Amino acid sequence: MRPTPPPRTYRVKSFGCQMNVYDGERMAELLAAQGIAPAADGEHADLVVLNTCHIREKAAEKVYSDIGRLVKDGEKAGKAPLIAVAGCVAQAEGEEIMARAPGVSMVVGPQAYHRLPQMLDAAVQGHRATDTDMPAIAKFDALPARRRIGPSAFLTVQEGCDKFCTYCVVPYTRGAEISRPYSDLVREAEKLVDAGAREITLLGQNVNAWTGTDEKGRAIGLDGLIRSLAELPGLVRIRYTTSHPSDVTDGLIAAHGEVEKLMPFLHLPVQSGSDRVLRAMNRSHTADQYLRLLERFRAARSDIALSGDFIVGFPGESDAEFEETLRLVDAVGYSQCFSFKYSPRPGTPAATMDGQIAPEVMDERLQRLQAALNRDQLAFNAASVGKRCPVLVERKGKKPGQWLGKSPWLQSVWFEGDYAIGDMVDVELVEAGPNSLAARPLTLEALPA
Ligand code: 5AD
Ligand code: SF4
Repeated sequence: MRPTPPPRTYRVKSFGCQMNVYDGERMAELLAAQGIAPAADGEHADLVVLNTCHIREKAAEKVYSDIGRLVKDGEKAGKAPLIAVAGCVAQAEGEEIMARAPGVSMVVGPQAYHRLPQMLDAAVQGHRATDTDMPAIAKFDALPARRRIGPSAFLTVQEGCDKFCTYCVVPYTRGAEISRPYSDLVREAEKLVDAGAREITLLGQNVNAWTGTDEKGRAIGLDGLIRSLAELPGLVRIRYTTSHPSDVTDGLIAAHGEVEKLMPFLHLPVQSGSDRVLRAMNRSHTADQYLRLLERFRAARSDIALSGDFIVGFPGESDAEFEETLRLVDAVGYSQCFSFKYSPRPGTPAATMDGQIAPEVMDERLQRLQAALNRDQLAFNAASVGKRCPVLVERKGKKPGQWLGKSPWLQSVWFEGDYAIGDMVDVELVEAGPNSLAARPLTLEALPA
């Protein structure tokens, strides 16, 4: 590669999970701290970071088409951008990317992106660089301070996963479970609140495996961290995602009943309703254990909204086993869910299992599952009509005077009036759609005495 002038503008494009969104924000802060400015929407950027996701096939293939497009547009405009590939595809396929995509000058894994400035120096000199080391804690220490952010912020508290579900690449791309230290998290949460956050979502691949030591030297879990953060005066709402059923503690369930700032929402993936499939997935729980766990959350917080992830067409999944998934869905009554067709990931045990399912069977199962999940989501929203709740305003709607935000149950809610981003507005939910609800703001007079 030839030396190029140092980039003046950057763009970070994040794909996949919320942890990637968080990493993308931190990379942007890192580049901004180097004096590089964010490129305006639709404008050329001198440096493009593709922050990739490897969880399913389509996500990984998209990276190569994005690289191709960036190179072609760059050639046409006579100013090719420097391209960095970050995220989980970078971690899993770094060498392949370097070989297959000569337009890429940097490949940096999710645990090494704090070294992006040094890699950028090398790239400017014309040297391609790959860094897929995993010194996770060093990364957080090396990142610059948080800058101004919106009312709802992410905070990564835990990374990596030791669960080794047989279909999943995360334990390979993100590495072993690590918890960030308690004091670092309290400090970062304080900074987020100072920078404008009113809601913080605690993130981790397996967030409820977080452990730490509080200021009094006591060993605490995620519930202890939530209780501490709830003491921050400017913070109004706390959420967390994603959890694993095996790491749910009594304390976490109790926190849902006791900590007012902890929102009544739980994302607890189950993947399948069949015990045989769950065993083959190495999920370490049965369908019944999962259902009983949900009952305990409901006992602690009766209005808790439930969410999950599902995979259809795992190798060997029979029609009858798929029906068990539909029955589990019926039994739970989810407020929202994510569902996916199984995608064989290279290097995972399930990729070489017998009984890979035909694509048309997967399509049909996914359609049936999603029809059931959509039905339940609409039913949940419809049952919310008439409820009164606070909504945190996150952005403007399409029409002037329209605002969009989230209910405590993570539903998208819109309403009209004279408000601003970051306001907490008391509303009555008046009309339900499948993906959002319309609301009527309650004026002070309208509130019950
Ligand atoms: N194929 C399809 N879905 C997957 N997920 C993880 N790995 C795969 C895979 N190989 C889904 C799971 C997980 C979510 C983040 O992505 O449902 O909970
Ligand atoms: Fe992947 Fe399973 Fe870990 Fe979730 S718990 S990240 S699905 S291995």
